[in-house]
Amino acid sequence: MGRCCKCNGRLLCMCLLPCMMTGHLLVYIMVSIFVTISYTPPKITTHFIASGISTNSSNLASHPVGPFWNLRLEDSALWNRLQHAWDRQHNPILRGNTTWITGERKVKLLSEIEDECSSDCISHKCSLPRMHDFNSLPDQMRAFIMAMHCREYPLLINQPGICKRNRSSFGFDSPMLLMAIKSQVGNFENRQAIRETWGRSGLVEGESNKKGGLVRTVFLLGRQDSSTGPHPDLKNLLELENKKYGDILHWDFRDTFFNLTLKDLLFWHWLQEYCPTAMFVFKGDDDVFVRTGALLDYLQKQWDEHNLVKAITNKTDLDLFVGQVIYNAMPNREPSTKYYIPDRFYKGGYPSYAGGGGVVYSGSLALRLKEVSEKVRLFPIDDVYLGMCLHRLGLSPSHHPGFLTFDLPESDRGSPCAYRSVLLVHRRRPKEILTLWKQLQSLPGHC
Ligand SMILES: *[C@@H]1O[C@H](CO)[C@@H](O)[C@H](O)[C@H]1NC(C)=O
Ligand SMILES: *[C@@H]1O[C@H](CO)[C@@H](O)[C@H](O)[C@H]1NC(C)=O
Ligand SMILES: *[C@@H]1O[C@H](CO)[C@@H](O)[C@H](O)[C@H]1NC(C)=O
Ligand SMILES: *[C@@H]1O[C@H](CO)[C@@H](O)[C@H](O)[C@H]1NC(C)=O
Ligand SMILES: *[C@@H]1O[C@H](CO)[C@@H](O)[C@H](O)[C@H]1NC(C)=O
Repeated sequence: MGRCCKCNGRLLCMCLLPCMMTGHLLVYIMVSIFVTISYTPPKITTHFIASGISTNSSNLASHPVGPFWNLRLEDSALWNRLQHAWDRQHNPILRGNTTWITGERKVKLLSEIEDECSSDCISHKCSLPRMHDFNSLPDQMRAFIMAMHCREYPLLINQPGICKRNRSSFGFDSPMLLMAIKSQVGNFENRQAIRETWGRSGLVEGESNKKGGLVRTVFLLGRQDSSTGPHPDLKNLLELENKKYGDILHWDFRDTFFNLTLKDLLFWHWLQEYCPTAMFVFKGDDDVFVRTGALLDYLQKQWDEHNLVKAITNKTDLDLFVGQVIYNAMPNREPSTKYYIPDRFYKGGYPSYAGGGGVVYSGSLALRLKEVSEKVRLFPIDDVYLGMCLHRLGLSPSHHPGFLTFDLPESDRGSPCAYRSVLLVHRRRPKEILTLWKQLQSLPGHC
């Protein structure tokens, strides 16, 4: 019985074998057809022709017919597509030397690469980026896409002198820590609690190292008015507040969740112009609690170590970026959530990034982030955007266990001792900030 074919079994074999082979062939054909129709060829020119070489020249050097890098991206999600166009444009090899091209030719060439308007944000004459099913997107996503090419907004309230030793001198002071706190026009109470506690401007002592350092604080605000829904008119109150404290940076854009990235960008611009010598920058929310003294100690240590390294290696830039780092995150694909990013807009995972509740980075890195951000398309989630920019600089955020953007375990929150190793904790209401600040001024000895 070990043999497969007996008399009538042989018949079966003779019939089954061709059947199976035909079956395989059919499957093969179906798979091939499927692969062929599901592959939509890239829409851009498939080979690069160096500028200056005419395409109808017959003695054109041989070139690969297809690209050797992946162009499937081209017909993919909107952000990836736009970023890809920029990457090509900023790539010195692909771009070649185009300075000799002038006039109409240049406009045409650049528009082929760019395919959108450059900076016409005020009159909204820009053509919208093409996107499949644009109208079915959630409102905030649509608003973001319609304005994502705009990066410059006027400053309504500025603090040009905050990093000057005195208002009449030209040189800059070098604050050890510049605190840039994302706030909204209506959050008067949060700002006041911060001014009275962890965000106090001036010389601040370290916790163990009494030397401490100079701290300057600014609040980053956009417009919170009828454009962002019904709001009482707080314009005069804000002006009064600014007259009293002089720490408000107010820009003329809608203060919405998807516009938070603009606060980073515009703050970096401001920093470069008005406070370029700050040693470190803290950027965080107005509902966090920071142990400023402990943070200054930590930063002093980083600075000293950096100076040691600098003496040996001549490396002048300090690459510090710390916070609570989130690794291998994927975009949220749940349409009902605040963080929803449709895959028509962005494909791929997120780079490592530090939770936006509060991060600290060096001043020199802030200036480099500003430079590289000019080559990274705006992304609606600000902390992810920072991760993208860092990634472009070849850096990644460092995790620090003292940054608790997801708070302490609930059972520990009431005990001052639990805050001993904390640098930042999210989230605290203004009253809680005051109470906690007072409690932590004199930590009991047994902690
Ligand atoms: C390319 O070909 C067109 C038409 O054949 C001709 O008018 C043009 O001058 C050519 N360009 C160059 C740079 O040779
Ligand atoms: C590009 O070409 C122009 C004119 O030929 C030349 O002056 C310039 O130095 C070149 N730039 C680069 C980066 O090669
Ligand atoms: C401000 O700076 C100027 C120029 O450096 C100096 O002459 C003046 O004494 C300073 N004023 C104060 C109050 O420090
Ligand atoms: C961001 O602000 C600009 C300028 O006010 C506005 O046009 C745009 O709609 C805002 N974006 C979002 C997502 O609210
Ligand atoms: C550092 O710079 C000094 C002077 O600029 C130079 O003599 C030295 O060789 C440099 N060291 C290194 C490791 O590059």
